[in-house]
Amino acid sequence: MKDLLRTADLTGDDLTLLLRLAADFQDAPESAHDLLTHRIVPMYFAKPSTRTRLSTAAAVARLGGTAVALGPDELQLRRGETIADTARVMGSYAAAIVIRTFADADVADLAAAAPVPVINALTDGHHPLQSVADLLTVQEHFGHLRGHRIAYLGDGGNVARSLMEAAALAGMDVAVATPPGYAPATEAVAFATAEAVRRGGAVTLTDDPFEAVKGASVVYTDVWLSMGDADDERTRRAGELAPYQVNEQVMAHARDQAVFMHCLPAHRGQEVTAEVIDGPQSLAFRQAANRLPAAQAVLHALLTERLEGRR
Ligand code: CP
Ligand code: NVA
Repeated sequence: MKDLLRTADLTGDDLTLLLRLAADFQDAPESAHDLLTHRIVPMYFAKPSTRTRLSTAAAVARLGGTAVALGPDELQLRRGETIADTARVMGSYAAAIVIRTFADADVADLAAAAPVPVINALTDGHHPLQSVADLLTVQEHFGHLRGHRIAYLGDGGNVARSLMEAAALAGMDVAVATPPGYAPATEAVAFATAEAVRRGGAVTLTDDPFEAVKGASVVYTDVWLSMGDADDERTRRAGELAPYQVNEQVMAHARDQAVFMHCLPAHRGQEVTAEVIDGPQSLAFRQAANRLPAAQAVLHALLTERLEGRR
């Protein structure tokens, strides 16, 4: 497998390998410090980013290379150069390419033309790097993944989709509670259901947040308005998603030892209350810290061609 474009491109063994590598990098951050010596990793960000941009830059540095962050006005793409030409040229200088943008098709075009690994750093449809850090965080906290239930509440967008796919690949139970019209893509639900069931897990879709969190070890949410959503949808989305806010009442319906997770950035008073995200059950900032070893693991596994992939 050359690229990481979607969590669902991974096999269960690939995910296990990434989680093991990431845990190894937590213990020995500089253990592969010469993998990228004298090499660059361009990182094209067409959307804002705090965690992904910095954790990936830090991961490249720990592997001995140099990350080059590029905004949409800094390449010739805006002036009509094709994605394919950009990919071919970048590939003649770079060890790998990291891209955050809107359309998944653009990332697929880049990967098809690039001779080096391409990593999806978030699109409208997927956030695979986040999902690796998320499962690393759950594994670190509980010691294992199987047998635990993750409840996701709110918008079934990119983060929900990648989380659901990863949790299913790990054999966890996944429950997703969304209002009508906000469920994750049908294809993702079918994938996750098949993968979870194969490993003794299950996927539940509901519109009832309390049903989703019943028996859950992890309660997870994301913003109500994503970077790929039109700003004029803000009010409608806030109204429709309000019943899915993670607050103390919701957390009280989960397991006693349940934790709260959020990919961040968070909006206190909207998708989560301050009491929950800043309280003792919150792993949100541990998750953010874990983006670094997760990015290191993904870069390392792709650059050493250790991921099998399913295509
Ligand atoms: N969670 C996440 O991807 O954060 P950024 O948008 O800050 O990169
Ligand atoms: N769903 C959010 C995730 C941010 C990390 C977005 O796409 O904006």
